[in-house]
Amino acid sequence: MKIEVIFLVNEKMENHFFQKNIVVVDLLRATSTIITALANGAKSIIPTSNIEEAVKIAKNFEKSTFLLCGEKNTKIIEGFDLGNSPLDFTEEKVKDKKIILFTTNGTKVFSLLKHSHNVLVYSTLNLTAVSKKMVEIGDQWIIICSGRNGFYDESDSIAAGLLISKLKENEVEVQLNDAGRTSFILFEKFKDDLKNFLKSTDHGKILIENGFEADIDFISEIDKFNINSAYANNNIGLT
Ligand code: MLT
Repeated sequence: MKIEVIFLVNEKMENHFFQKNIVVVDLLRATSTIITALANGAKSIIPTSNIEEAVKIAKNFEKSTFLLCGEKNTKIIEGFDLGNSPLDFTEEKVKDKKIILFTTNGTKVFSLLKHSHNVLVYSTLNLTAVSKKMVEIGDQWIIICSGRNGFYDESDSIAAGLLISKLKENEVEVQLNDAGRTSFILFEKFKDDLKNFLKSTDHGKILIENGFEADIDFISEIDKFNINSAYANNNIGLT
């Protein structure tokens, strides 16, 4: 399997993603939140590129059918129903609801993938399901690390390394680009203490400072959910 890991993503890269198979990861925390919401019965997720877009989309739906969710500087946006903490997306709150979601980095990536082939949403929480789906679908993949405010995010990189390691463990022969090799080396070095590694990253430290350490504990639980979700027609749903 040929895997290209991308550490930094920008609007000019849309053509590069045309008709490709893509895995999106924003481990801390957008893709972890999306997977948790769907596992807890959310109907679908509508990822948005900015707050105004999220508010505008919400106007199309009856209030009881959706939750308006998102973060600014990791904290809940004023007037929104939920922030971006996976722990808030409980079955009680999200079951059968559409989730309109804006996050600073993760949800923006999807707007560049409108013409991609298969787009899977990945987190540690659904590692095995994603690795199996990749094998089932094809032998060329791009793993997009969402990054943090345009900068490299080590938590996404180690998550990419974890996925590569899972594929190798299942005897998939992988061909990696430089960013893929770096991700794999990073994972090999810190695999025995993923939780503390995540807490030591720049993003991890900000989350702890803002009171979200429990999110990192939760996200460190590998394979909590056996689900896959895909993005198509500006919706993320179970697949
Ligand atoms: C993002 O998409 O920027 C992140 O999920 C931010 C966060 O940790 O809430």
